[in-house]
Amino acid sequence: MITPGHGSRRHTGIGLARVDTMLSPDQLLQAADRFGTPLYVYDASEIDTALKRVRDAFPGARIFYAMKANSNFAVLRRLRAQGVGFEAVSPGELARTRFLGCAGDEVIVNGPAKSAQEYQHGAEMGATFVIDREEEVSLLPPGARVLVRVNPGLPVSTHDHLATGAAHAKFGVPLQGVVQVFSAAREAGLQIRGLHLHIGSSIRDSADFGVAFGQLTTLAPQLRELGFGQLEVLDVGGGWGLRADLPGIAAAAREAQSAFGARELWVEPGRYLVALAGVLLTRVVGTKRTARSFVLCDAGMTELLRPMLYDAKHPVTPLWDAPERHVYDLAGPACESGDVLRRDVELPTPSPGALLAVGEAGAYGAVMSSSYLSRSRPAEVLWDGGWQLIRRRERPEDVWAAEVEPESGAVSY
Ligand SMILES: Cc1ncc(COP(=O)(O)O)c(C=O)c1O
Repeated sequence: MITPGHGSRRHTGIGLARVDTMLSPDQLLQAADRFGTPLYVYDASEIDTALKRVRDAFPGARIFYAMKANSNFAVLRRLRAQGVGFEAVSPGELARTRFLGCAGDEVIVNGPAKSAQEYQHGAEMGATFVIDREEEVSLLPPGARVLVRVNPGLPVSTHDHLATGAAHAKFGVPLQGVVQVFSAAREAGLQIRGLHLHIGSSIRDSADFGVAFGQLTTLAPQLRELGFGQLEVLDVGGGWGLRADLPGIAAAAREAQSAFGARELWVEPGRYLVALAGVLLTRVVGTKRTARSFVLCDAGMTELLRPMLYDAKHPVTPLWDAPERHVYDLAGPACESGDVLRRDVELPTPSPGALLAVGEAGAYGAVMSSSYLSRSRPAEVLWDGGWQLIRRRERPEDVWAAEVEPESGAVSY
């Protein structure tokens, strides 16, 4: 846990004296011993706590979990059992909803360049599609249920790679094109349910949401003129930072909802629901000094890409103590200079085998892990009153399983 008001926090009493989960250091040490490292560890109760916070802030709103944050079936099943639907943005994510047996009204199909398979499978299910560009109107089967995604063209307080509602981003229909898409969708016989907006991820300043929702409502008179006086749905996306002012965001969303007379408010949190529940455990391999001092770990960019991709700063907690402390860069094992989990961390002098907990790692952690360098993706375990292995560590042969050996004598073109 991070902030006061986010519930109680358990102190480790050692090192940096805190981990970002209710799991104790002893439990983390036990998990590392039992399942090996690098290891993703999730605390199921933290997911429930985050969901409750969302429910409390947005009473009556429908929650569609953006499963891109963490699509492990254990996480999906837990959320679904509590009435949460899913947003799927790839054929694979949609396949996960089908595997779970989700009904159409539990699923939103989104993405800027959907495949034929997504249109077909989403339509068979009766899912709601998010139209991201006008051409999609002719790709969807008549009768398909749709929202139109608006790009408000606003800068937001996050890394540029996460600013999906910026004018230069590839997402959504610019404000001035939305009315045209509504007309085209109606002409094509699509069932228009409403509007969709997602302005970015890990947004630091919650006031950004109010500004964006305010921009959105400028569409209300034009849509009314077109005969859309009352929308069925307003979907305001996700993107909330972990310390977001949810009640403030919810109040702004409710205002926008009433401007469109929308009967339902939908939200699509990803990171907020799962980030704090997860910790990446990594062991110290050794230390090294160049112009800087490094602690070399057994996890890096192939296990947690966010520091490299978004310059993300995950909290790091050492699960050991030593009389002296120094400032180190935490580097991973990849042969890439950018493979640094965190720079300038003050740590007690480490020894090989010492354990580090990298916090806020439940979202966009395991799902972004890769087999680059033929590294095996890490295992994932869930604490729910006992340990459950929810993804086994990959073996080298899992990494090359899909490769095909050319038949001898085959002609290649
Ligand atoms: C359309 C859409 N909705 C919801 C989300 C979830 O965002 P976050 O995990 O920041 O809440 C994303 C993430 O990129 C998204 O693209």
